[in-house]
Amino acid sequence: MKKILFVASEGLPFIKTGGLADVIGSLPKALKDEGFDVSVVMPLYLKTAKSVHHTLKKEKTFNVEVGIIRTIATIYSKDVDGITYYLVEHAPYFERDGYYGYGDDGERFAFFQHAVLRMIEEKIVIPDVIHSHDWHAGLISLLAKTTYAKRIKTPLTLFTIHNLLFQGNFPASILDSCVGLPMSYYHEGQLRFKDGISFMKAGILYSDIVTTVSKTYANEILTPEFGEKMEYILSLRRDDLFGIVNGIDVDSWDPKTDTHLSSNYDLKTVTKGKKANKLAIQKELGLREDPDVMLVSMVSRLTDQKGVNLLLQAMGDIMGWEIQLVVLGTGDAHIENDLKAIEFRYPRRAVFYCGYNEALAHRIYAGSDILLMPSAFEPCGISQLIAMRYGTLPLVRETGGLKDTVIPYNQFTKEGTGFTFYPMNVNDFKHVLWLALETFTYRMDDFKTLRKSAMTKDVSWQKSAKEYAEIINMRLK
Ligand code: ADP
Ligand code: GLC
Repeated sequence: MKKILFVASEGLPFIKTGGLADVIGSLPKALKDEGFDVSVVMPLYLKTAKSVHHTLKKEKTFNVEVGIIRTIATIYSKDVDGITYYLVEHAPYFERDGYYGYGDDGERFAFFQHAVLRMIEEKIVIPDVIHSHDWHAGLISLLAKTTYAKRIKTPLTLFTIHNLLFQGNFPASILDSCVGLPMSYYHEGQLRFKDGISFMKAGILYSDIVTTVSKTYANEILTPEFGEKMEYILSLRRDDLFGIVNGIDVDSWDPKTDTHLSSNYDLKTVTKGKKANKLAIQKELGLREDPDVMLVSMVSRLTDQKGVNLLLQAMGDIMGWEIQLVVLGTGDAHIENDLKAIEFRYPRRAVFYCGYNEALAHRIYAGSDILLMPSAFEPCGISQLIAMRYGTLPLVRETGGLKDTVIPYNQFTKEGTGFTFYPMNVNDFKHVLWLALETFTYRMDDFKTLRKSAMTKDVSWQKSAKEYAEIINMRLK
């Protein structure tokens, strides 16, 4: 059985800040079903240390010595559903209140990646394939082919871009101080990017296969509009670049068994189930309890990517309509501040829950009629997949994975799994939200048909895991 090692900065069931963690928590299981032996490695953060340290198995402690990094790493492990999770412990780097955004992120994640390769060298795991994710693991393929080439069995390397906006760009001096590669990688241009070096660029250039999380995003990032200045670098890898859409863990996201809900429901009981969950969330959040009002929600990181500005600009108009609004999210201070005002302006009709809350997210997905994702760009998006599974119709901008996963409502054929618009402007956004409200108010039968189509849409990993397996098996031969 071929062994795949996932390398990522976050993942369920340990920590999650966004969709990357959903993927790391669910794709390994789907690849296991395709006949691979899959394990995952990530840093051991403070939250994990506090909550589950006593349940971890200690594997080994070893030195990590590169540049100014002269220290030790300890590897712990835990088996969950047939997948082995390895956790890299180094308290000064990782046991902090947050996960990212520190001044020494370059050093922290250079250390992490060296620790992963040292772990392989120490034979804790001997992978045939290393599947690295985003910039935090962008150096792995290059280091495996250079520094560690003679010390480990040559793996097939796969790199997945989850979000090209976050690139891991650092001053060139980090090559010497923490990466342990010659300055020529900067001077000769291989890793040079914006006057420094980029971990993301390393992943793109030096991995055998590069993937991203939807077909549309794979095409978009080859253009200046979405390429984040890496479009040329990506075009060099065009032949090895694949778009494979994400799925979700349909067992943990299932309205029929979800333990966070007060009323469970399935396709047969969806109308009653949604109303019961709507009343419950209205009560929980202090909204006027009314099962017949259209409840619109957003569960999101609050950054410019997510198009919250369209919602804020539209607010004055749309709150004059017969709708209620719930936003659950955390992120940029200016967006949080703007959203904080909505509760005062629209009491009992709009709520902003500022923070991260997994259980509440489940209840919002279940109780809402519409989930907003008017993203400026969206590599894939997980929230719209969850929404559809819960019979909540996503209202999305036609970009990246949103375009690939949400079928727009067709008033004539009654086809569709949600509502979509394209131009990034407030009038188009309001127009499509109005269409959703009109459908909800005057054509409830259509709305129910869409709901059923959304709930029966395949959002599992099955098909996509097969695509990964096919690409991997082809290159392993
Ligand atoms: P991204 O990874 O860009 O943030 P995705 O749509 O891929 O966007 O994934 C977001 C994931 O994070 C979903 O599982 C969503 O439910 C969850 N999420 C986002 N914000 C919150 C929050 N404030 N509380 C709980 N879950 C959240
Ligand atoms: C990133 C993207 C999101 C994607 C997720 C998982 O966070 O912003 O679109 O769904 O990664 O791949």
